[in-house]
Amino acid sequence: FIGEAPGADEDRVGRPFVGAAGRKLDDIIAAMGFARSEVYIANLLKARPPRNRNPLPDEIADHAPFLVGQIRAIRPKVIVALGRPSAHYLLQTSTPISRLRGVWGRWEDEGWPVDVMPTFHPAFLLRQYTPEVRGQVWSDMQQVISRLQELS
Ligand code: URA
Repeated sequence: FIGEAPGADEDRVGRPFVGAAGRKLDDIIAAMGFARSEVYIANLLKARPPRNRNPLPDEIADHAPFLVGQIRAIRPKVIVALGRPSAHYLLQTSTPISRLRGVWGRWEDEGWPVDVMPTFHPAFLLRQYTPEVRGQVWSDMQQVISRLQELS
């Protein structure tokens, strides 16, 4: 699961997704039938942008090599891109997340492809906690569960 950047809570603790969005992500992971220890969680940016503003292109270019190093070390079966910055970086597109989500993309690293499922960021889900958005995120995660079953 690849998010955007640490927030204030994550900055303090030094771990990704430990605040409110992290608790929502924990719920999603548990609903998928996984323990948090069975998945790897990272962020596109490794430091918190001032006042939680959106990452700037220069920041993404500076920080992304660390994420690529993490992906190479983990070699995940699939990647869930949480929200726009991570989906846009991994899929090298500027298509709105509302159109990207639910459709498999692919991240290719030196001939080694990984399926990428873009979905809404858990912080967006918390702000927009409607049956529609919840259903969309859950349907995206069901696709991930199916793909993992096919791969195992
Ligand atoms: N939002 C993110 O994208 N990452 C975190 O670690 C926390 C909140």
